Amino acid sequence: MAFSPSNASVGLQISLLLSFFMAAFAGPFLDSFDYNWGQSNSQILNKGDLLTLSLTKECGSGFVSKNQYVYAKIDMNIKLVAGNSAGTVTAYYLSSQGQYHDEIDFEFLGNLSGDPYILHTNVFCHGQGNREQQFYLWFDPTADFHTYTILWNTQAIFFYADGIPIREFKNLESSGIPFPSYQPMKLYSSIWDADNWATRGGLVKIDWTQAPFTASYTNFNDKNACVSYYGTITSCNTPNSNLNNNGWLWQTLDYSDQGKLKWVQDNYMTYNYCTDSKRFPQGFPPECYVNNKY
Ligand SMILES: *[C@@H]1O[C@H](CO)[C@@H](O)[C@H](O)[C@H]1NC(C)=O
Repeated sequence: MAFSPSNASVGLQISLLLSFFMAAFAGPFLDSFDYNWGQSNSQILNKGDLLTLSLTKECGSGFVSKNQYVYAKIDMNIKLVAGNSAGTVTAYYLSSQGQYHDEIDFEFLGNLSGDPYILHTNVFCHGQGNREQQFYLWFDPTADFHTYTILWNTQAIFFYADGIPIREFKNLESSGIPFPSYQPMKLYSSIWDADNWATRGGLVKIDWTQAPFTASYTNFNDKNACVSYYGTITSCNTPNSNLNNNGWLWQTLDYSDQGKLKWVQDNYMTYNYCTDSKRFPQGFPPECYVNNKY
């Protein structure tokens, strides 16, 4: 068939139209995630803008990001299992692979109706965790969506709830303390049966008559992230900036954020490994003397 400029421009218009419709209907979850567990208990709704994970007696469920990151700021709006969620855990975390993996964890430990969830956090560096901090929340995480953010950058790992920093794990690699800095991580979320430990240390079991237990996700945002391809080439998406300015990749807590972090730690923290002297009779891990000083 003879090529003509008019055919070409019609073709271009059609493909622009097609990509417009695909963008309009695909939605971020279909583009960004794969189901990796219990697909029959997962659903993508609202044209891809809403994702639900459920736990039934038969199975939990989970998803994993298609992208892998070396440094990222990831936001997700999550609405947790309402009512009697005792024994359930909804996990939302970044993790690399293998024996010496790094991991940055948010885990929401369910509770009986009216009793508070615990937000459990941990940081694994090169295969070693044991850096738990736990918090009550200052809102009901089951009544509505709230934004949970992991900011992993060159300076520290920050955990936020609704933009308020709840934890900082500083990059002290220059003092010989391990920090995740080169292994690419994917984002995971899952809901599972953890009634052997989650609620009041395992005393309260799951009431299966309340199943399915469902958590909902929306507004996933990984626009500020360094996406790693095959573990080597990393393209950093830093809108209106380059790698050397003060964007998210170099961000630290300003004076006001430090005040907020102190407010959370003073009023809502229920466990801190750095003050658990029974657990560390020989002295706390080295980062404890530098972190958590606000
Ligand atoms: C559940 O509620 C009990 C009683 O208020 C509380 O002690 C506990 O910390 C709460 N959270 C979990 C996950 O057990």
